[in-house]
Amino acid sequence: KIVPVILAGGSGTRLWPISRDSLPKQFLALGEGEGTLYQETLRRVAPGPMFAAPIVVTNEEFRFFAQRQAREIGIDPTVLLEPVRRDSAPALLAATLLAQRLHGEEAIVLVLAADHVIGDAPAFHGACRKALGAAGLGHIVTFGITPTEPRTSYGYIRPGASLNGGSAARVEAFAEKPHAELARQYMDEGYLWNSGNFLFPAHVMLEEAELYEPDVVDAVRRSLAHAKADLGFCRLGPEFRSAPSVSIDYAVMERTSRAAVVEGSFPWSDVGSWNAMREIAVPDERGNVQRGPVRLVDAEDSYVHSEGPLVAAVGVKGLSIIATGDAILVMPSHRSEEVKHLVASLKADR
Ligand code: GDD
Ligand code: MG
Repeated sequence: KIVPVILAGGSGTRLWPISRDSLPKQFLALGEGEGTLYQETLRRVAPGPMFAAPIVVTNEEFRFFAQRQAREIGIDPTVLLEPVRRDSAPALLAATLLAQRLHGEEAIVLVLAADHVIGDAPAFHGACRKALGAAGLGHIVTFGITPTEPRTSYGYIRPGASLNGGSAARVEAFAEKPHAELARQYMDEGYLWNSGNFLFPAHVMLEEAELYEPDVVDAVRRSLAHAKADLGFCRLGPEFRSAPSVSIDYAVMERTSRAAVVEGSFPWSDVGSWNAMREIAVPDERGNVQRGPVRLVDAEDSYVHSEGPLVAAVGVKGLSIIATGDAILVMPSHRSEEVKHLVASLKADR
């Protein structure tokens, strides 16, 4: 069986004001499904013939969301807690070591971001089966998505020679978050986006991490050796703090020669911005998306979302308006990437 590992410790700042440091987007019901993004992720890999019970890795401060939201849908994961945020590599490696401890040296791990929307679960499972084939040949498999525009917030993958009868390809190059000009060039050259979900034999990931980031592996190993079980949680030891903060993309994916890619033939969005939120919603005949108490008159191509007050707008076009009990954001929809700078400047004031 495949061991699902769900990374649920990120902060999702570009969806401010709805996604906050204290309640990030993975724990919110932002997709078209009925649950939160995290719950929909858990459902996609529910325990059964294909998947073992999941391991969730998150920050100490989100422990109750992670446990309660899983139990709400009848799933009881092992919740691994980090004492501090160190980005995705330490979290992923801690879970991979735990998967090995629970399921043996040969465990196959499927790492999923907790905050993505995947439209077609059967198609996703089909891609996992293809990935299993390539993982069996000793590869770290990523799921590639055909780019629609030169976004700079993604990793880019150059597919190479085909593997396993064409169901996967070697990764010839992996470039994390290129600047705009390079992103455009990669797109023209047929690179794929990295979806940020990975399938691999645990030992292969650990060997590669050991090779390129031995300090991370060492800190994580020690922290797992001193982990404490407590009320259904598994708390990593204080040694976790000494792990350098680095994402798995920079730590391993950009450097390894053992990566492969399977094309993700499923609808995918990382709902990374309000514009992405607009794209996954079904607009009305005038191109508007309305969520919550909203009244629009003569509006076009606008995204209006309220979690509190009635929001009314007249004659707006191409605008996003997002309101909560304590904040209102207004911007042209195409500038939604800039919310991260806004949030940074708000934090600097505090
Ligand atoms: N437990 C834990 N602890 N999880 C974390 C941490 C952490 O400190 N930091 C991030 N994560 C989780 C996030 O919640 C998310 O599920 C996943 O790890 C990826 O982190 P992001 O911070 O969202 O990464 P990104 O979106 O900038 O980039 C990644 O995803 C892109 C696709 O959405 C990369 O893999 C890119 O290459 C990829 O294109
Ligand atoms: Mg992300």
